[in-house]
Amino acid sequence: MRLILLGPPGSGKGTQSALLAERLGVPHISTGDMLRAAVAAGTELGIKAAAHMDAGELVPDDLVVLIVRERLSQLDASNGFLLDGFPRTDVQAEKLGGMIEEIESGLDAVVLIDVPEEDILRRLSGRRVCLACGAVYHIDSNPPPEHRRCPEGGECSFVQRHDDTEAVIMERLRVYREQTSPLINYYKSRGLLVSVDGVGSVREVFDRIVRTL
Ligand code: AP5
Repeated sequence: MRLILLGPPGSGKGTQSALLAERLGVPHISTGDMLRAAVAAGTELGIKAAAHMDAGELVPDDLVVLIVRERLSQLDASNGFLLDGFPRTDVQAEKLGGMIEEIESGLDAVVLIDVPEEDILRRLSGRRVCLACGAVYHIDSNPPPEHRRCPEGGECSFVQRHDDTEAVIMERLRVYREQTSPLINYYKSRGLLVSVDGVGSVREVFDRIVRTL
């Protein structure tokens, strides 16, 4: 299956993508995770992306399109993929359309996870992620277990993301409204959009997505 998960920051795209990728046996491709890895590694891409990410702005289209093109060309993506956080602009959506035509396949669906903005701030300000393996928890709804081990070995070390401060969350929501939410109509008009209520437990939302697909 070739899927896109769309939705505002904190709607649960990463959480649901991890579960769906396991269920469907396709790679979970998160541009946010790839960019954070580039920042941590201090690559040229990471150096260019860091200031945009810390400010809650989008990283320029040409940089993001390049990493997605490279990732989709890898063998494990040839039988399907789950894109989390891409596309985020109309330019990215057009470029993705071109890439998919090149591999002579099509998208199966774009899943919009619908969560009201009033829930977003609570979700993001309480999020904790493992620096090493990226596991995602929430201090109230899904607290990080003590002494959790990363799949690669070693103990998880949970921190708050740099862009999960209130001011940056508000900016990310503004950017989403202005630059990413127009993609809802873009994919609706192509008959690809399915909308899922993102309020409820992680398992409830997952079951809704699976039923919808
Ligand atoms: P990215 O990492 O993609 O951030 P985002 O889209 O803002 O999304 P988040 O990761 O914040 O949230 P999520 O929807 O994945 O929610 P999660 O599952 O973690 O991008 C970061 C930055 O990179 C961007 O700002 C931009 O600068 C850059 N970037 C990335 N892609 C780009 C692109 N294509 N173009 C340009 N720039 C790009 O859940 C959030 C919290 O809620 C967690 O604590 C979780 O435990 C909790 N939670 C999840 N589900 C539930 C539930 N059902 N009920 C209660 N709590 C829940």
